[in-house]
Amino acid sequence: MSAAARAIKHIVKPEFVIEGAGVLLQRSFGPSRENPLDPFLLFDHFAFNDPIEGPIVGFPMHPHRGIETVTYMLEGNTRHRDSLGNSGVIGPGDVQWMTSGRGIMHEEFPKRGPSGRVDGFQLWVNLPAADKMGRPRYQEVVADSIPGVETDGIHVRVVAGEYGGVKGPVTEIVAQPVYMDVTLEPATTFTLELPEEHTAVAYLFEGSGIFGPQDGGADEVLEAVHMVIFEEGDHLQIRSTADSKARFMLMAGAPIREPIVPYGPFVMNTEAEIKQAFIELRNGTFIKD
Ligand code: FE2
Repeated sequence: MSAAARAIKHIVKPEFVIEGAGVLLQRSFGPSRENPLDPFLLFDHFAFNDPIEGPIVGFPMHPHRGIETVTYMLEGNTRHRDSLGNSGVIGPGDVQWMTSGRGIMHEEFPKRGPSGRVDGFQLWVNLPAADKMGRPRYQEVVADSIPGVETDGIHVRVVAGEYGGVKGPVTEIVAQPVYMDVTLEPATTFTLELPEEHTAVAYLFEGSGIFGPQDGGADEVLEAVHMVIFEEGDHLQIRSTADSKARFMLMAGAPIREPIVPYGPFVMNTEAEIKQAFIELRNGTFIKD
């Protein structure tokens, strides 16, 4: 590791958006042609914890092509069903890593947990041109099979990537992602080595912390809820404050470095490929499996 940890490139305050059949979400970023967080396209935090939002609606049957969608539930459930014949419930602590490839149709319906809350995240990861029309695939990981690492006030659930010699169960993903749920006790420092040029972001959703190099004195304390986008560098350093825990999702991955054309639930490389997806949806040839 070189001396300096990755610095903060910028900090994002998530915005409320409405998606699906009227689902209120906090979105940190969404797909754009500029693709600044390559290979990551979108990060949403389900946030229907306020009773004034009324009954929870979901995401009725919709297609995806050219991407991976990663659903991680903290509280409540998401019931899902798809064109491959899969169906099930993603419960608290479970992860579903869905590689849409050339196409799936699915529905996703969140349900409140015993506390009345629904809490979870959806991340979209891009696929390179060579894999966009590949076979759809699911990796369903139940909470019990996600390994935890506990050391000196650091609690890490490793979904993908490696921490403390422990590898996550989600594998064979082109972007070589890191996806971890990290909780730090007060005044605890977390470090993680990463390939220098991989994109890295942290989503602080509980507590407060100092993200980036700690020079003493001038460190800026960030409060939940914020997303931190890091500069390049060979390691990350994140420290909780003296009086508060910090809990954050940590995501890193290899940039794909290809032009993208996002349109709704499709992310392809050219406009012609987007048009083709709509043609196939209309003439009934979108689903090939
Ligand atoms: Fe979806």
